[in-house]
Amino acid sequence: MEVIIQPTKEAAANLVARIISKEVRANPNAVLGLATGRTMEAVYDLVAAMHKQEGLDFSLCKTFNLDEYVGLPGTDPHSYRYYMNEHLFQKVNVDVRNTYLPDGTAPDLDAECQRYEDNIKRFGGIDLQLLGIGRSGHIGFNEPLSALLSRTRVKPLTPTTIEQNQGLFDKPEKMPRRAITMGVGTILDARRCILLATGAEKAEIIAKAVEGPVTSMISATALQLHRRCTVVVDESAATKLQGCDYYRWVFQNEPEWQEFLS
Ligand code: F6R
Repeated sequence: MEVIIQPTKEAAANLVARIISKEVRANPNAVLGLATGRTMEAVYDLVAAMHKQEGLDFSLCKTFNLDEYVGLPGTDPHSYRYYMNEHLFQKVNVDVRNTYLPDGTAPDLDAECQRYEDNIKRFGGIDLQLLGIGRSGHIGFNEPLSALLSRTRVKPLTPTTIEQNQGLFDKPEKMPRRAITMGVGTILDARRCILLATGAEKAEIIAKAVEGPVTSMISATALQLHRRCTVVVDESAATKLQGCDYYRWVFQNEPEWQEFLS
């Protein structure tokens, strides 16, 4: 795992957008794993601008989102399908038929989860998985005690997550209590993971996720087991990390990051 500390949340989002752009240019058929949430909005704005201004081409890409609320159809403005259409898919040239999210309205949710796993496999697995982190330590909606080998399934949401997200619903009680989420094991199968966290409210959980012991109580700690995971944070989210000097040195000096320094 490596940690990149950027001065502002804008700079952090910009770095992640540049990593995505590099991946898509190098591999036009890339299979992208996508996340929703407030943190990602800035990334998608930048990626959409790269499409418009620099011709970043998504026409051959496939996308798989991490999660979807149970019970919400894609036409519901609170669904993650709706979020993705609004923030990214309608702004770039991805073929909407190549964009996958779990169907939270499927009559047989277990079958839907299996179908989702099968589809990821069918396209050869995820090349680059984008992740945010919740205050409960979740990646996707892998709430505390998610097995580190878990696969796509239905997960009940914790009170922390309900509190974190219910403000986004016009009526808080409308927020579903369950979601379909890729499992921790599904996420760990991605060839590369990028976790973005910004803001002071993420500082404590980021320190636990990056520097704490691996535990299913904080599913993001499982990323310590991943072969190629980059955590991008702004200064506010980095305040509780112990190893900042070392992380900064690595970013400034390792050849891989030279092109991202300016
Ligand atoms: C969303 C997802 C979640 C969010 C996390 C952070 O698809 O998988 O893990 O990334 O809850 O959300 P924000 O960015 O709103 O703080």
